[in-house]
Amino acid sequence: MLNIAHRGFSGKYPENTMLAFSKAVEAGADGIELDIHLSSDGELVIIHDELLDRTTDGKGAVADYTCAELKGFDASAGYAGVYGVNRIPTLREYFELVAPVSGFITNIELKTGINVYPGIEEKVSAMIREFGIADRIIISSFNHYSVLRAKKLDPDITCGFLCEGWIIDFGAYTEKYGVECVHPMRQTLTEQTAAEIKAHGIGINTWTINTPDEVLRLAELGVDAVIGNYPDMAKAVIEEISKK
Ligand code: G3P
Ligand code: MG
Repeated sequence: MLNIAHRGFSGKYPENTMLAFSKAVEAGADGIELDIHLSSDGELVIIHDELLDRTTDGKGAVADYTCAELKGFDASAGYAGVYGVNRIPTLREYFELVAPVSGFITNIELKTGINVYPGIEEKVSAMIREFGIADRIIISSFNHYSVLRAKKLDPDITCGFLCEGWIIDFGAYTEKYGVECVHPMRQTLTEQTAAEIKAHGIGINTWTINTPDEVLRLAELGVDAVIGNYPDMAKAVIEEISKK
């Protein structure tokens, strides 16, 4: 079972920053999940919300600022003064960090649920190809049309349907559209729903897994990846399981 750091090592460091990403690599995560938006001048930037307000010292919509303007904000909200200034990363900066890390996986979540960001799938796909890391990427989104656009552009890249609801036979739905994985919210994974998904040969990557008990429960259900804020904890639990 893979250990994916949610927004980087976001349990201890400012989410979706280069610091949180490098700390996730250091903690021994198998990969990182991150969230992508487009700046007003079309750069792929890594931040969770449509608005700057919660995670940065800026205000207003990410999409209203150029990349250079976004770089003026500090994304250290909640950690002011603790780890210095942490800028909003671009996807390029992130790829420069992880591309050399052998086997390291990246789950790119396209935040196309509210802003559709026309062309974002093309930009992500082109950058993945530029770095030559298509075999280490999972593209996911709550916007399933967005996932299908990405899948059509690059059929070799693994894709996943994100969902926080209770879908009946999520496996059949996912198989129908030629998508490899589902990314269900952990509360919706039961023996029944996990079995329905696996019966169709669909992978299960679930979030947000922040306690040892949940890591254990999901390992027993046979999920493929846990996505959580504490990759150090998940690594320790997974290592214990593998000793048994
Ligand atoms: O991709 C898993 C998870 O990140 C989805 O929800 O809101 O944390 O991006 P959110
Ligand atoms: Mg996310």
